[in-house]
Amino acid sequence: MSTLLVTGGCGFIGSNFIRHLLATDRAVSVINFDCLTYAGNLANLADVVDHPRYRFVKGDITDREQVRAALRLGVTDVINFAAESHVDRSIQDSGPFVRTNVIGTQVLLDAAREGGVKKYVQVSTDEVYGSLGADGFFTEATPLHPNSPYSASKAGADLLVQAYEHTFGLPAVITRCSNNYGPYQFPEKLIPLFVTNLVRDEPVPVYGDGQQVRDWIHVLDHCTGVEAAWRRGKPGEVYNFGGRCEKTNLDLTLTLLDLLGKPRTLIRYVKDRPGHDRRYAIDCAKAERELGWARQTTFDQGLLETINWYKANATWIAGIKTKDYLTYYENQYDRLQ
Ligand code: NAD
Ligand code: DAU
Repeated sequence: MSTLLVTGGCGFIGSNFIRHLLATDRAVSVINFDCLTYAGNLANLADVVDHPRYRFVKGDITDREQVRAALRLGVTDVINFAAESHVDRSIQDSGPFVRTNVIGTQVLLDAAREGGVKKYVQVSTDEVYGSLGADGFFTEATPLHPNSPYSASKAGADLLVQAYEHTFGLPAVITRCSNNYGPYQFPEKLIPLFVTNLVRDEPVPVYGDGQQVRDWIHVLDHCTGVEAAWRRGKPGEVYNFGGRCEKTNLDLTLTLLDLLGKPRTLIRYVKDRPGHDRRYAIDCAKAERELGWARQTTFDQGLLETINWYKANATWIAGIKTKDYLTYYENQYDRLQ
């Protein structure tokens, strides 16, 4: 029997991960440790709240005593999803990013070491590798070259994880995944923002020329990757996960407009995100080879299901405690070009 401390379990990916594990492995119990920032939403796990193998603990990963107390609840393994995750917010104010992503990780690593956990999984991101030109892919050997305060804070956390594994023998692995999409994503990120705007016939802000490339993966495929890294990942190793599905932001926007039957006049080209990374593309052959991981969802099918989920879950969107995402882009690098 494993008892996982899943941090950030009320966010987008963490909530999908917890639902997936509870549904697929009877030998796993989950303690969801989350301080409920603007991105943390208890409604994301409303369907499992009474599950006998699930428990929610409100706590902050930067708080040493709260983390230690949670570890004492019989935790065998730690999966760290908790983070400030939105690049645009990190450009406005990097403070919370350094606090949660760097210091929070350090606090968790210390507690995991003291608690003698069997495995520590750090959920990181492909953004730590920086930006690609027209060719090539990020492999696990690509040097770290983070460009935003968000990715710099995630890279800092990754280095701490590697140092704790090397120095103290903490059995830690790192996962680095490309852009996720799917249900329960906070509607400040491209796909849920654009879908929820378009269903209300509102415009969508495309940054710069819209030619930046992202590699899209369904959130459940990322979750099975994190699970595989937890179960079979070798301490000290990094595993990349990606969708082998590169799209320019403009192409993706046009696809969303077509699928929703909306006119192209709803596109607004706005000022670019400062320091905007041009292209991400992940080589995930190592995870396929060494962890036996494979993607299950095609982009066409996953995107359609995701659009339908946002259309069917208007009450979930209406219930989000902060509404600043509705006007977010109007307040920053947002004036029309
Ligand atoms: P999210 O913003 O939706 O959720 C983050 C969660 O962490 C929220 O529930 C929030 O309340 C919680 N949290 C934040 N600060 C905390 C703190 N100090 N203590 C406890 N809980 C705290 O993020 P997401 O998109 O689900 O991303 C989860 C993880 O996956 C992050 O580490 C992110 O860097 C990584 N990641 C995300 C993507 C993506 O496309 N979204 C891709 C690769 C990696
Ligand atoms: O690559 C993994 C990363 O993907 C994760 O580590 C981050 O947590 C996650 O937020 C995501 O980062 P991005 O910056 O790539 O995601 P976002 O949805 O914010 O933007 C996707 C692309 O779309 C990016 O090139 C910026 C652009 N964009 C975004 C928004 C919100 C727009 O053109 N307009 C928008 O309004």
